Amino acid sequence: MSSGTIIAIAIPVLVVLAALVGFTSLRKSDVQGLGQLSRETRKRDAGSLTVAPVSDEAKELERSVALARVGGDVAVPEPTEPEIWSPPDPEEIGVTRRQFLNRASITLMTMGLSAFGAANIAFLWPRPTGGFGSKVKIGTISSVNDVIASSSPAVTFSYFSEAQTYLQPYPMDEATQRAAESVYSGAVLDGIKMGYVALWQKCPHLGCKVPSCATSQWFECPCHGSQYNRVGEKKVGPAPRGMDRFPVIIDGDKVVIDTGSPTQGPPIGTDTTGQGLEGPHCA
Ligand code: FES
Repeated sequence: MSSGTIIAIAIPVLVVLAALVGFTSLRKSDVQGLGQLSRETRKRDAGSLTVAPVSDEAKELERSVALARVGGDVAVPEPTEPEIWSPPDPEEIGVTRRQFLNRASITLMTMGLSAFGAANIAFLWPRPTGGFGSKVKIGTISSVNDVIASSSPAVTFSYFSEAQTYLQPYPMDEATQRAAESVYSGAVLDGIKMGYVALWQKCPHLGCKVPSCATSQWFECPCHGSQYNRVGEKKVGPAPRGMDRFPVIIDGDKVVIDTGSPTQGPPIGTDTTGQGLEGPHCA
């Protein structure tokens, strides 16, 4: 599934989840408060409510009390006008605890979901192409061949910093090519058959950048002394293999190094070119 499809699915799912959380937080509760009777209880009470008939003595007592009031024995307060109700000012009431908790939980949920969604989108967003980790165009065939020709032998081998790669010429004679076919395969062998091998600058021992040595015409790692011949096959030192390498692609008249697909270097003991020391070591 492509990244675009995953993003197209992930965004609606996140929106639906956020809407669900918001809806459940805002839903009015059925419970109106403590002490409130349920509808069934009120119905049952109403059914059992009976009004006792008023007896003649009670009516007589009521009448005598009313007469006593009229006669002035009992103080009857003057009726007052009922106070007109006005709704309370919401600002005076302020925010209730329930409102505060609802709003706080919705805010926190929204922030959490937003952060989660943003992190997912950032993770799935396609990486920019063109830099190290992708296919890097290092130049035209003729310009790359010019660099190689001017640096073999040279103080530094042909180095392309944008691909962190030494692009080395690979001998095209029949014996060397046959030796290469017995060791290498896939895209690396395809590059060798075109006369190129792209070596990653990173030492396979502990990752130091490996410089070339102008006198020995080998690569010599200054960190722990691993040494490799001109095509990155290990000669001495603690490195577990030869230098790792990238596929070389010819795209029209352009040379492209696929730095997103490194291949492990050849095992210790590989020597397809037979290149010996050409002078004293640097490291
Ligand atoms: S990092 Fe190169 S030899 Fe250790």
